[in-house]
Amino acid sequence: MTGPGRDLDLHHPVGHRRRPRLCNGQRPRRRRPAPVSALPWGLLPDSADVGSDGGLRIGGCSLADLAARHGTPLFVYDEDHLRARCREAVAAFGDGVAYATKAFLCRAMARLAHEEGMHLDVATMGEMHVALAAGVPASHLVLHGNNKSELELSAARQVGVGRIVVDSADEIDRLELLHEVDQFAPRVLLRVTPGVEAHTHEFVRTGQDDSKFGFTLSSGAAAAALDRCRASPAVELVGIHFHIGSQVFVADFFRQAVAVVAPWFNDLNLPELSVGGGVGVAYVEGESAPSIAEWGAAVRRACADAGITARVTAEPGRAIAAGAAVTVYTVGTVKELPGIRTYVSVDGGMSDNPRPVLYGSGYETVLARAPKADRPRAVTVVGKHCESGDLLVRDARVPADLTVGDLLVTPVTGAYGHSMGSNYNKVLRPPVLFASGGRARVVVRRETPDDLLAADVG
Ligand code: LLP
Repeated sequence: MTGPGRDLDLHHPVGHRRRPRLCNGQRPRRRRPAPVSALPWGLLPDSADVGSDGGLRIGGCSLADLAARHGTPLFVYDEDHLRARCREAVAAFGDGVAYATKAFLCRAMARLAHEEGMHLDVATMGEMHVALAAGVPASHLVLHGNNKSELELSAARQVGVGRIVVDSADEIDRLELLHEVDQFAPRVLLRVTPGVEAHTHEFVRTGQDDSKFGFTLSSGAAAAALDRCRASPAVELVGIHFHIGSQVFVADFFRQAVAVVAPWFNDLNLPELSVGGGVGVAYVEGESAPSIAEWGAAVRRACADAGITARVTAEPGRAIAAGAAVTVYTVGTVKELPGIRTYVSVDGGMSDNPRPVLYGSGYETVLARAPKADRPRAVTVVGKHCESGDLLVRDARVPADLTVGDLLVTPVTGAYGHSMGSNYNKVLRPPVLFASGGRARVVVRRETPDDLLAADVG
């Protein structure tokens, strides 16, 4: 299998005799040995601890209590963890650093990121709508998208989003048409593709020339778009943007991209260079990832080495949200196939976490009642959807006494789980709780069967 997570050889790109250094200067560890040991505690949210009953707590709240009150499946976020990562991003990059809302968005999250000083990267009118509904000022939004509709552009101009990241010549056409009506020129960044191929899953790689995103630097398309933006009354060009991919662990890819863009960028005298998001996070035992501070320092060092004096901004999503949450499921059936495998079915699946199916991503599991227990038993954790591909954790390790009714927890599910979830098989989306200081509040309620009919007009 390949994919962001354990199964992809992110750490050992083809052609490298030594594994390249991470953003924190360390060399990544080799793939994990078959773990029988307890879950590495660092994969849990910052506030994770063990309650007096021996069970796992997040934000001082017992997961067993939360499951009893709210049911399962359930996303539980450590609110202080989210806040700490936002503050770390602001400390690393300064004003203008944006939280990539595609990783996880609801009004509470938008408000939290804004309160902690981040701008918000929104990639559609839907994300923009939620951010505005949360009270985030439009001036703190950055609008992305390789195919922004006239409606999206018009809405963004009307509310006054801080920056529009221009992605194509057709988009400039649309901005010029809109300008003819009201003579307003929004502030824009120009997205370029630097031709750097980050070693991550092909679905989340964006910096290579063969990409649907942005203007190619090497072909001259970026220079032509730049000339057009500079000459056009329809936009106020304030910077350049690139993004090389997601779940990227290796500092050198960011350095390469900066080195490619810098000679061109430095001649432009523009005030901002956005290096996008994409720094990787650890999902499973044996992975190590740089902190946001380490990534920021590596990026800023690369920019300084390349002579960049403009403000450097970024758009982390996963690094803010992924490790902040766990998903809590209830084990419903255990099917043993002697000599083949044991299937452990839980009450969620690809509708709350499609990443294993989409990218072959790996996750760990832990029992809520025994978070420090050894995990000698090999099982495959599957969901409740009507297809065999509905895998959550192919090679899971669990305590020997796992049984029906247990609460099974998957850590590092705070990014691209809830946001990429679906109602497949008309499964109801789980609620989202923010836990802090021994209290948990519902920020997204569990869907009801009537929600399934909300847009169904008969
Ligand atoms: N900025 C831009 C322009 C992006 O396209 C993305 C992610 C980000 C920032 C944030 O990247 P992050 O820091 O979260 O890696 N669904 C996939 C990830 C897709 C990422 C798309 N773009 C997954 O679950 O791995």
